[in-house]
Amino acid sequence: MREDLRKAKSMKSYKIAVLPGDGIGPEVTREATRVLRAVAEGQFELQFEDLPIGGTAYEKHGTPLPQVTLERCLASDAVLLGAVGGPQFDPLPPEHKPETGLLGIRKALGGFANLRPAIAYEVLAECSPLRPEVLKGADVLFVRELLGGIYFGQPRGFSGEGNSRSGFNTMVYTVPEVERVAHVAFKCARGRRKKVTSVDKANVLESSQLWRQVVIDVAKQYPDVALEHQLVDSCAMRLVTAPASFDVVLTENLFGDILSDEAAALTGSLGMLPSATVGGKINLYEPIHGSAPDIAGKGVANPLGAIATAAMLLRYSLDREAEAHAIEQAIAQVLEAGYRSADLKRAAGERLIGTEEMGRLVLEALGARSARAK
Ligand code: IPM
Ligand code: MN
Repeated sequence: MREDLRKAKSMKSYKIAVLPGDGIGPEVTREATRVLRAVAEGQFELQFEDLPIGGTAYEKHGTPLPQVTLERCLASDAVLLGAVGGPQFDPLPPEHKPETGLLGIRKALGGFANLRPAIAYEVLAECSPLRPEVLKGADVLFVRELLGGIYFGQPRGFSGEGNSRSGFNTMVYTVPEVERVAHVAFKCARGRRKKVTSVDKANVLESSQLWRQVVIDVAKQYPDVALEHQLVDSCAMRLVTAPASFDVVLTENLFGDILSDEAAALTGSLGMLPSATVGGKINLYEPIHGSAPDIAGKGVANPLGAIATAAMLLRYSLDREAEAHAIEQAIAQVLEAGYRSADLKRAAGERLIGTEEMGRLVLEALGARSARAK
């Protein structure tokens, strides 16, 4: 047997379901899969399958989460998602909204712990509204509960007519829901600086009081990890006044949604933030930036969040730490060389480039790195 054939036969193979979605989703996901392909070459096999989700899925199939997407995702090794949503879909009834498709796939895959790292790269300090001395050393990992709280709590809905209408939601947590996500946070902290900040609103909300009690109980199993509690309002302020004082931030669904967007101020742009959702049947990987409808289709979106998300996929689903790290280094290298997408503020001499070019430069940096390693 020819050597290359034998190698191909013994190569491990993974199925990656790709859900480009709406807005800039397709553009940035394309760059992420390009990078994954390059990393896999000669090492392992990746079978990508593109599947519909969100508003584009609704337009074509009448539902934001077609059955085929659900089935193929559940049969995959990992799911990579771009973004969903756009103003043209806002008037749709709840069951047809793109966001309903996203929440549906999250629930079906079962991942309850959404890991959102926010790192202040020194080279991007210029892009952040925070002063460099405030930013210095900021490296926060948000562990956001993703399947509970007000996003999924029942009852929810509208009642009444005319001026007597009301809209309502329920913020609810059970003990097992808090326990399982708390364990993820403490385990993550063990691999980092061994500190967990649990964020809640225990001065007002019962669901937060339960949250706090359960986190205190779980912490007993991790005596090597320091635990502190912080109310969400003061946490929002501390994130921009003393971001380097956080290590792992553990929080419920809605607070995590809000705080992790705020943390984009540390990285310089929402376009830089990756995420991984773990703990369920199949892990889900999605950048945090959203669909950015204003710049969709123009080829100017920042693909680095999506590419960093691909690195997380390699790390958490394929156990390829070396490759994940190489991608993160390549991203840093491209930024250090002065290349910037439109969302990143430029200083003199820095080059403005588009989505595809950014992807190509990351590939080039990766190639150069692997060539050096040989
Ligand atoms: C996010 C997004 C989603 C969320 C939306 C699109 C439903 O904002 O992933 O942060 O609220 O979880
Ligand atoms: Mn969000």
